[in-house]
Amino acid sequence: MAPATLTALAEEKTLNPSFVRDEDERPKVAYNQFSNEIPVISLSGIDEVEGKRAEICKKIVEACEDWGIFQVIDHGVDAELISKMTRLAKEFFALPPEEKLRFDMSGGKKGGFIVSSHLQGESVQDWREIVTYFSYPIRNRDYSRWPDKPEGWIEATKEYSDKLMGLACKLLEVLSEAMGLEKEALTKACVDMDQKVVVNYYPKCPQPDLTLGLKRHTDPGTITLLLQDQVGGLQATRDNGKTWITVQPVEGAFVVNLGDHGHYLSNGRFKNADHQAVVNSNCSRLSIATFQNPAPEATVYPLKIREGEKPVLEEPITFAEMYRRKMSKDLELARLKKQAKEQQLQDLEKAKLEAEAKPIEEILA
Ligand code: OGA
Ligand code: NI
Repeated sequence: MAPATLTALAEEKTLNPSFVRDEDERPKVAYNQFSNEIPVISLSGIDEVEGKRAEICKKIVEACEDWGIFQVIDHGVDAELISKMTRLAKEFFALPPEEKLRFDMSGGKKGGFIVSSHLQGESVQDWREIVTYFSYPIRNRDYSRWPDKPEGWIEATKEYSDKLMGLACKLLEVLSEAMGLEKEALTKACVDMDQKVVVNYYPKCPQPDLTLGLKRHTDPGTITLLLQDQVGGLQATRDNGKTWITVQPVEGAFVVNLGDHGHYLSNGRFKNADHQAVVNSNCSRLSIATFQNPAPEATVYPLKIREGEKPVLEEPITFAEMYRRKMSKDLELARLKKQAKEQQLQDLEKAKLEAEAKPIEEILA
C-alpha cells in the first residue's frame, strides 16, 4: 500500500521496504559528486541576429547531439519569480499531511499532490512527493486542482508557467533552425503545445543508497526545463546505465533536456536524455520540472531525415500512441524482471532441497 505522505517515513531509522530497489537500479554515484560534462550556456545575446546568436545556437545543438542535456543561464526568467516559486513550493511540502492531501490526486484526478511511483503497476516506490499542474493549453486548466496554500502560489505558478512556455519556444526555434527548418517547425509539430509543471520534493532519506528519488527514465515529451536547488541529485547516463554523472547545480540555471518526442522529430540526431534523481540522508531537495509536450493527437514522425539516414520510426503515429507504447514497453520490462527474479529464487530453493536430500558423503565427494 502506498503511503499517504513521506513525512513519517523520513523520520524512521531504516528505509520502508516498499522503496528498496533491486541492486542493479541503485545509485552508483554520490548525489554530490558533481561533473562538469554538461555544458552551461549563456543565452545573453540570443536574439541578436547578427551577433552572438550563431555561436549560442551551435553550443545548444552540440549539447543536444552529445547528451541531450545542457544548462542555460541569462535566460531572461526573472530571478525573483524563480525564488518566489521555490519558496512557496517548499512551504507547501512543509504543510501537515492532511493539508497536502486536500489535493490528493491518487485515483486519477488531473493534477494535485501525490507520493509518486514511477509507473502504474510497478511495485517499488520513488522517494518523492510531487505537485502537478496541468498548465497548458489554458482552456484545460482546472484551478480547483491547484493548491491554494501557501497564499500566492497559484498566481506565481501562472506567471512561471507562462515565462517557461516562452523560454521553451525560444529553444525549440534554435533546434528547428539547426535541422534546416523554419523557426516554428518544432512548435507547429506540437499542434497545440501542452505544458505540465511538476514540483518534485525529495525528503531526506534514512538509507539513500537503497533507493531512488526518481527511477531512471527518458521524458516522453519534446523538451523539459528543470529548476533545481543547490543540493544535487539529478544524474544522467549516455551508455545505457553503465556509468552515471551527477549534474552540477548552478544557481538560477535551468537544466534543459530533450524527451522522446524531440528525439523522434530529429530522427535520433538529438538525444533523449536518460536520467534519474538520487536522494541523500543530509537534506531534502526540491526541483521543478516543466514538461513541454505535443498535443495528444499530434503526429510523431521525423521532420527531417538526412541523407544516408533511415527513419527511426516505421510509420507516423500520434503522441498518445507513442506514449501508450512507451508505457506498455516499460511495464513489460518490469514484468520480465520480476519473472526472472522469481525464477532465480525457485532455482535456489530447488538446489537447496536437492542438497539436503543427498547424503553428506555425496556432497563432499
Ligand atoms: C523529472 C525529472 C529530475 C530531478 O521530473 O522528470 O527527471 O532532478 N526530475 O528532479
Ligand atoms: Ni525526467
